[in-house]
Amino acid sequence: MASFDSKKIRIILLNAAFLVTSIGILAFLLNAPEESTAKLPLDEDHNRFIGMKKKEAEKFCTECHTPEGVYPLPEDHPPKYRCLFCHKRD
Ligand code: HEC
Ligand code: HEC
Repeated sequence: MASFDSKKIRIILLNAAFLVTSIGILAFLLNAPEESTAKLPLDEDHNRFIGMKKKEAEKFCTECHTPEGVYPLPEDHPPKYRCLFCHKRD
């Protein structure tokens, strides 16, 4: 009869747990939605930002994207510091 080597079994179990966790994380990452945040539109209002440095361009966003502006942000908008990190230019 094989004698149980509890240390070996423990190592096998830990490895199995590690494997399961890794596969879980990988599956989660592969399932992640495509980048879905709205891109900077390519229109008259936004074309001038294409050639600018991000930090420069972002100073102008709030000319229009404020509660009083022509196109306020949605109420549930995430923290909005650094617009262009999330809203990519093409
Ligand atoms: C002159 C006014 C104006 C300025 C300045 C401006 N926007 Fe806009 N923006 C608009 C208007 C109007 C719309 C809605 C119509 C459209 O999609 O162009 C809009 C729409 C958007 C959208 C939504 C696009 C979509 O697909 O729903 C994003 C994102 C955006 N702007 C980001 C920015 C960022 C980032 C800046 C600064 C770099 C900026 N805007 C500067 C007027 C402006
Ligand atoms: C942390 C990431 C992040 C930052 C920073 C950010 N946004 Fe957004 N923004 C989002 C997400 C997410 C949405 C909602 C989903 C979508 O439609 O893209 C959104 C939505 C918007 C919309 C409405 C889009 C529509 O379809 O109507 C506008 C306009 C916009 N953001 C402009 C800005 C401006 C201007 C700034 C900087 C002052 C900014 N955002 C900063 C993530 C961000």
